[in-house]
Amino acid sequence: MPETCLVIGAGVAAFGFANAIRDAGYQGRLIIVGAEESPPYERPPLSKAYLLGKKHEDDLIYRPLSFYEERGITLVLGERIASLDLQARSAQAESGKTYHFDQLVLATGANPIRLPIPGAELPGVRVLRSMADARALRDDLHRVERVFVIGGGFIGCEVAASARTLGKQVTLVETMPVLLGRALGEQIGSAIARVHERRSVVLRLGRRVEALEGRARVERAILDDGTVLPCDLVVVGIGVRPALPAIDGDLEIDNGVVVDATCAASAPGVWAAGDVARWWHPTIQRAIRVEHYDNALAMGAAVAKAVAGQPEPYAPVPSFWSDQYDLTIQYYGYPVEWDEIIVRGDLDEPAFTAFYLASGRIFGAVIVGRPKDMRPARRLVERLAQVDRAVLSDPEVDLRTLLS
Ligand code: NAI
Repeated sequence: MPETCLVIGAGVAAFGFANAIRDAGYQGRLIIVGAEESPPYERPPLSKAYLLGKKHEDDLIYRPLSFYEERGITLVLGERIASLDLQARSAQAESGKTYHFDQLVLATGANPIRLPIPGAELPGVRVLRSMADARALRDDLHRVERVFVIGGGFIGCEVAASARTLGKQVTLVETMPVLLGRALGEQIGSAIARVHERRSVVLRLGRRVEALEGRARVERAILDDGTVLPCDLVVVGIGVRPALPAIDGDLEIDNGVVVDATCAASAPGVWAAGDVARWWHPTIQRAIRVEHYDNALAMGAAVAKAVAGQPEPYAPVPSFWSDQYDLTIQYYGYPVEWDEIIVRGDLDEPAFTAFYLASGRIFGAVIVGRPKDMRPARRLVERLAQVDRAVLSDPEVDLRTLLS
């Protein structure tokens, strides 16, 4: 009897896995079970091209169902796994069906954090994570004028940009004093805030919402300084938490499924990939959890190799990008505390590359409007380079000279 590998979740990480597993030589049975109705699709366009009507649902689906059939992968959609029994090696679905496995891949992603205030459940209050969320939000966006965005992270910034591009009035509230502060820090986060202000997004930074009110649907938000903001639609993007079924058995969970350098969890034959996995990064010698696309895709592929019996240390330089208006914000680097930021170029335009340094080494770089800096900046991060600060900050010097 061949063994069975069960993948829970049919998102980006599961697609990375499916795309690589047969090429890696795995010959066992493969089952991917996902709670959503759609076959694996690209999430990044949901908050951008999809909301703007430039891409449609079919454009986002990675591969047709025949792709999975050809690879002998059983794809079960619209099926949510409620619990796992690691001893019995079985997964119980909400439908009552049981799936047995020899190897298990947890690719369950993350769920949006719900806003813990009165009125958060009113119609017209939305989150954006899935295709179904995006469909509902897009339909709403076409009907409304005043959009209130809660959270100035990636979802908040991208939705605000899309809504403004569609000509809506947008107000955004963020508890931190800048946008994207958690990922990029205060200096760079302020530059991004100015981009939105110039496009007439009203920013309420350093504030929080106390309540949402309305009769049949949301009509206004009340801020902590007493401001009453009329609105027709609210989009909440205040972060995510790892999504997991109930687990019976020993599995180390600590802000996600803890895995080692080869993506192996603490129980035998269990692996994790994507937003749900907290993995030991050998370069920085610590466990990190990355909630971005590039990591989900690559980590899914890394788990495929491991499941097929060829585990390798999974040690990429994490990266992400965000498109807002006509700007692309590209980031490479590790989530470590930095003690210095060196900027080359103009934060206001914005056309700059900023390097995040810790103990004199480059641990991260963000590039906005300077595409030529992308490759060399990535190489400098890969090397955790220690370079001359004067050269690094001079926008006229080609970064490639620092690589030789
Ligand atoms: P996030 O973690 O990026 O940002 C959440 C923001 O909400 C933070 O700035 C936080 O300070 C703020 N916040 C928290 N509670 C708040 C409150 N009560 N009122 C106002 N602000 C509050 O999470 P987000 O934007 O929800 O995105 C969800 C996930 O999707 C993240 O993991 C993100 O990395 C990912 N994502 C990534 C994208 C990209 O890489 N381009 C695009 C869209 C989403």
